[in-house]
Amino acid sequence: MDWSGRVALVTGAGSGIGRATAEGFAQVGARVAVVDRDEDAGRATLEAIGAAGGEAIYIAADVADEQSVAAAVAETVRRFGRLDAAHNNAGISPDTGTTVDCTRVLWDQIFAVNVTGVWLCMKYEIEAMRASGGGAIVNTGSVSSLRAAPQLPAYVASKHALIGLTKVTALEYAAENIRVNIVCPGVIETPMLMKKAAEGFFSVDDYVQSSVPMARAGQPEEIASAVIWACSDSASYLTGATLSVDGGMVIA
Ligand SMILES: NC(=O)c1ccc[n+]([C@@H]2O[C@H](COP(=O)([O-])OP(=O)(O)OC[C@H]3O[C@@H](n4cnc5c(N)ncnc54)[C@H](O)[C@@H]3O)[C@@H](O)[C@H]2O)c1
Repeated sequence: MDWSGRVALVTGAGSGIGRATAEGFAQVGARVAVVDRDEDAGRATLEAIGAAGGEAIYIAADVADEQSVAAAVAETVRRFGRLDAAHNNAGISPDTGTTVDCTRVLWDQIFAVNVTGVWLCMKYEIEAMRASGGGAIVNTGSVSSLRAAPQLPAYVASKHALIGLTKVTALEYAAENIRVNIVCPGVIETPMLMKKAAEGFFSVDDYVQSSVPMARAGQPEEIASAVIWACSDSASYLTGATLSVDGGMVIA
């Protein structure tokens, strides 16, 4: 895979899955816009890419804020001249409790980042991709895009919503050479997962043994490789697809 001359933007690129995708895109030669609201995290990814000989810029942006997203895409195009691929990955999963216990504030925060954030990113990315003659987008869903999990009403609803949004956008821009797909990770060893485990939400080992047929957690790089493939010319006929990358979790 040779991405030289091409440009990728990754949100939530300061940590976990987004960081692995940003590093992966840089490894295959893309110039990468590392977008994250956490500056220290974003700059750490930038340094790692630079140390490995890749080319990237860090852009501070909150995906829930329209001006911030518009500015991030504009800055990417200003610095790199085009946009070929985007991984809309930033997401949050704060503890909400059950449907009854979830507060309106948390519900709105989760939807603002996980759903509105992805919509805003696509809104501006598609304009930039049109100017580049086409492109490919992957949104990060979850096994929670496809099935229920107790105590996560807003998260599960937000991730289900992304499948619908991905399909609509894929349909709308298919004829303009812009492909849109969603990757649904299972249990992936990232700071988000480890934080939840540390808070006592679950034990990773128990969770994996009871829910993952492959009997292990996934690594962020195993999601990144699926995302980069789905954005690549090797996946040139793939659009509107939901790809589960979960060690078999959703079929169990
Ligand atoms: N880790 C898993 O097991 C798992 C499973 C399924 C889906 N996912 C999804 O994968 C994505 C990445 O998760 P992760 O585990 O790598 O999480 P993470 O918490 O390790 O990383 C998320 C990154 O997104 C950034 N971010 C959060 N809100 C943002 C915002 N509003 N604007 C810009 N940046 C923001 C954070 O600063 C952080 O750097 C999320 O959408 C998550 O829902 C994760």
